[in-house]
Amino acid sequence: MFKKTLITAIALAGAATGNSQAQAADLTISCGAVGAELALCEQGVAQWEAQTGHEVDIVSTPNSSTERLSLYQQILSAQSSDIDVMQIDVVWPGLLANHLLDLGDTLGEDAADGHFDTIVANNTIDGRLVAMPWFTDAGVLYYRKDLLEQHGVEAPETWEEMTEIATEIQAAEREAGNDRMWGYVFQGRAYEGLTCNALEWVASYGGGTIVDAEGEITIDNERAAEALDLAASWIGNISPKGALNYTEEEARGIFQSGNAVFMRNWPYAWSLAQSEESNVRDKVGVVKLPSAEGQESAATLGGWNLAVSRYTENPELAADLVAFLTGEAEQKRRAIEGAYNPTLASLYDDEEVLAAVPFFGTLYDTFTNAVARPSAPTGDNYGRVSNSFFNAVHQVLSGDQSGAEAVSQVDSELSRIKRRRW
Ligand code: GLC
Repeated sequence: MFKKTLITAIALAGAATGNSQAQAADLTISCGAVGAELALCEQGVAQWEAQTGHEVDIVSTPNSSTERLSLYQQILSAQSSDIDVMQIDVVWPGLLANHLLDLGDTLGEDAADGHFDTIVANNTIDGRLVAMPWFTDAGVLYYRKDLLEQHGVEAPETWEEMTEIATEIQAAEREAGNDRMWGYVFQGRAYEGLTCNALEWVASYGGGTIVDAEGEITIDNERAAEALDLAASWIGNISPKGALNYTEEEARGIFQSGNAVFMRNWPYAWSLAQSEESNVRDKVGVVKLPSAEGQESAATLGGWNLAVSRYTENPELAADLVAFLTGEAEQKRRAIEGAYNPTLASLYDDEEVLAAVPFFGTLYDTFTNAVARPSAPTGDNYGRVSNSFFNAVHQVLSGDQSGAEAVSQVDSELSRIKRRRW
């Protein structure tokens, strides 16, 4: 197994459009590197290598999903055969389908049996299974059990309660000497992660999902504007100004070092918060995200899939690696060691999985009812749609425009994109 960065791969792709490079390994896979992601990928790949005698190179990708997408688009549009197996985001199948193989052809029509139907449907474009489900994701609220207990409060159910508790505990902790304490950390950088956070705020205010399932643009409404204004009010009060530049890992760093009361993140942060190196081990609770009074909590659906590039020279072998990595044994190992949500319903009844990640049981409904970003109705325009939304939201968080201005701006930008082609 040999590791290189995706930048090297891109240099190769650029230099060798459509041609193969002489490679020592039989296959190359690109894996994410958020938290323990890369280590888990390496271990899984090593097992497949040991079983099959084949050799695999691993390239790591940037942490931001937005940056990963533009790198993949460069590689795929160069029709490069340098990466055979790609880890792709749940919002990308529609964007990348033309560059990916139908795994139903190589792995059989029943390849995805037992995986959540919604993800299989998401990964099936024009009847072609372009990616196998690997893990699913949904936004959850992490909180400091010890601090909430000390203050005699329960985990919040509304954003208002969360804001109050965060304000109170932050003030008390600072008074007690921890002047680096913050109430709430989340993903506020202008990238895909902010689209996920802001969709949760908007949907849990009853403000819809930006674009509805029929492709109608719904973002320009008062509830959505109100949700964004609330989030802006956190900055500089319960959330640091630096949150405007946080991705998942920066938020986790603050929470895990003991300097935040609440954090919005994906489940992977659990096993790291519970690790030996963590300052908050055994002090953390996980519940569903808050909502506006009288509304339902909303968790954005995330997750990653494994796809085989159409330009691979080893389609059968690449598909075999995908089948192994997305299979039950690997999904179970990744759930236990990394808190990566399985896409196989049966693993949510597995005692070892539930012992390692108890909220896989308590929040099962959150995972199966997560709110999808509008990638299906907007098809290959999704990247532009998300960019418009996260940039406008970022301006609200920065204090440069109001929630109402932002939702109207997104409405007109999306209308323009839609007029052209969706
Ligand atoms: C997580 C999710 C992914 C999402 C990304 C945004 O990795 O699984 O779907 O796009 O976060 O930062």
